[in-house]
Order: sequence, then structure tokens, then C-alpha cells
Amino acid sequence: MSPRDPVVQKFGDLDALSRAAADDFAALARRSVSERGTCSIALSGGSTPRRLFQLLAARGPGALPWEHVDLWWGDERTVPPDHADSNYRMAREALIDPLGLAASHVHRIAGELVDHDAAARAYERQLVAALGAPPVFDLVLLGLGPDGHTASLFPGSPALDETARWVVANPVTSPLVHGTATRITLTAPAINAARQVRFLIAGADKAAALAQVVEGPRDPKRYPAQLIAPSSGRLVWFVDAAAAASLRGAA
Ligand code: 6PG
Repeated sequence: MSPRDPVVQKFGDLDALSRAAADDFAALARRSVSERGTCSIALSGGSTPRRLFQLLAARGPGALPWEHVDLWWGDERTVPPDHADSNYRMAREALIDPLGLAASHVHRIAGELVDHDAAARAYERQLVAALGAPPVFDLVLLGLGPDGHTASLFPGSPALDETARWVVANPVTSPLVHGTATRITLTAPAINAARQVRFLIAGADKAAALAQVVEGPRDPKRYPAQLIAPSSGRLVWFVDAAAAASLRGAA
């Protein structure tokens, strides 16, 4: 097993997975702050990370050096920040507000802007100003869609071919976005520049895609999560038993 092989950690259910992810998140944040004075984390959206956020909030503001942690997003839906589909809103309700985190450390994507490309370029400029080019996150959290997408890198979408940009407006056609929609997303090169990357994946509806992504033939156009291979960082998959059911050695 080479250090570059993805590490798959299996847990009984979403709650157990989320507790382990909370321990990992806290340890990483403490280490980053002790080594570099700061910690920059890109949060994932969707529903899976909500339990992690709730657990971190329940541990209270003293559980890790939040005053040195900057929160960013891996992707956002093109909706206002108070919309039910907003990834920012989910994190605000489950983590940011309960902990009373300072707004100066919260860097959301302006999904409400009508000019999606301008929103992506504005976020890219913010990222590069704060984290360089490529922007180097201490931690990127990712999820997996039942179609093999991650962040908002959807099968067959133009952002999959992006090699120069760090954030793009990605037009997506998928039943998962109810037809066609634009998403603002980090690109694979931006994610792969991170020091640590964690997939959080739970539920039987992810089993087929997870097996394809981790053990199937290379086909990133069909399974974009296969694009995630940190250039020097570490990749760990936190999966629950239901999502891991189709993996070889799942027993
Ligand atoms: C988003 C996410 C997306 C998500 C997967 C899994 O904005 O939807 O960033 O990549 O992680 O779709 O979503 P669930 O956790 O809801 O299954």
C-alpha cells in the first residue's frame, strides 16, 4: 500500500462517521494552527456534512482554535444565502451561528449574483489573495453524488476539463439539479492542491458510485470524483457501511 493509495475508513452509520470526522477535523485544525498560525477549510454542501457541523458546534467554541480558522466552500448553488438549497445557509444554521464564529473568518460564495461567471471570478480572486495560486487549503471536505459527482463537478460538465482556473461557474444538466442549473465550484486542480482531503459518504444510494470511483476503471467524465487525487496532500474516505456495501472487501 503506497502512501498515495486512498485510505477508506468504514463506520457503522452516519453518526459514527460524523464523530470520527469531527475528531479528524479538530485535530487537523489544531495542527494547522500550531504549524502555520491559521487553518483554511473548504466545506462541502449537500446533507451529509450537517451532522459533522452539529457535532462540532455541540463541542463548543473552545474545542478548537476557531479564531484562527477560515471557512470557505467547495461549491455553491446559484441561490441567495437564505435559500433552503444554499450550502452556506446549512453551515450557518448547523455550525457558524451556534458557535458565533466571526464573519471575518467566513468566506461564502455569492450564489445570488445573476452573473455566475463574475461570482466565480470574484471568489477566485478572494481565494488567491488569501491562499495563493494554486490556493492551498489545509482541509477540503467533499461529498459524493449517486452519479459520481463531487463538489459541483458533475458528469460530462465543462468544469471537468478545467486546468487553469481554481473556481468556475459550471453549467450542469442532471436530475440531481432538477434539469439544468449553474453551480459555482472549486475545480479539481484547486482541490488537488490541498494538504488534506476528506470524502464524507453515507447511504446505500452512494454504494454503486463509490465502488466505481474507488475500484472501477478510470473514467472521470462519468465519475468526476475520480479526478480527486491530491498532488502532495492526503486523501481519506470516511464511508458508512451502507455506502461501502459494494466495495471489494466490504465485509
Ligand atoms: C452540493 C455538494 C455536492 C454534495 C453531493 C452529496 O452542493 O450538493 O457539494 O457535491 O456533496 O451531492 O450530497 P448529499 O450529502 O446531500 O448526499
